Amino acid sequence: MIHAAILAGGTGSRMKMANMPKQFLELGDKPVILHTIEKFLLIPEFDSIYVGVHKDWTDYTRDILSREGLSEKVTVVTGGSNRNGTIANILNHIQKDHGDNPDSVVVTHDAVRPFVSLAIITANIRAAQEHGACDTVIPATDTIVNSTDAALIAEIPDRSQLYQGQTPQSFKIGLLQDAYTRLCEEEKASIPDACKALVLADIPVALVAGAPENIKLTTVMDYRIAQALIDRLPEESSPQGEAV
Ligand code: CTP
Repeated sequence: MIHAAILAGGTGSRMKMANMPKQFLELGDKPVILHTIEKFLLIPEFDSIYVGVHKDWTDYTRDILSREGLSEKVTVVTGGSNRNGTIANILNHIQKDHGDNPDSVVVTHDAVRPFVSLAIITANIRAAQEHGACDTVIPATDTIVNSTDAALIAEIPDRSQLYQGQTPQSFKIGLLQDAYTRLCEEEKASIPDACKALVLADIPVALVAGAPENIKLTTVMDYRIAQALIDRLPEESSPQGEAV
């Protein structure tokens, strides 16, 4: 089976713009989170779509979905205290609703990346089925400077080997759970994303080509860029396109 896990459990503390998490801000004619969910609804391969939301916003999210007639198609669950906690909660619900199948694929995606393409999501499904795990990346365009003391440069790594991580990140569920169980408590609390858990556990993670427009809305500037992009990007209706 193939499941979508849309991660919307954050509160958007860096956005500081409205009294609601950034995934609920209006973008064009609807909230950011709906743009994202609609991309997943356009891919018929998904057996289920889950959204993990902060506990204070579950009713609000259900209302949005109900207004759009999507309550039957999308399941709202309570998020965790960090991003990986939200993924873990969604995995628990998948197991409860669909049974324990380690070869099922979960495509995890930030709710605040509404410009993900259907081709990128489809390429994630294929890569997870073939390799077990994948991350979506784009080549780094800026030089990356490493400093260990925030004062002096420690190293400037070769840019041709550096990528910027995006989402989706997709996994066979058994592999992801395996990686989590091998982490110590400190690692569980501090690792920034799910792919890092696999890398720490020496499990190979394949790369899928992302896209520059697959931006994450983090700051007010990102939101302004999203507002400028929303009417300019072509609307997608099927997962055609160049998947790498
Ligand atoms: N996320 C989540 N559960 C959490 C924290 C974050 O599902 N407990 C989700 C966010 O909702 C977002 C994605 O992970 O879609 C990327 O995280 P980030 O941009 O850091 O979102 P926030 O945590 O909301 O933002 P901030 O760090 O500024 O508070």
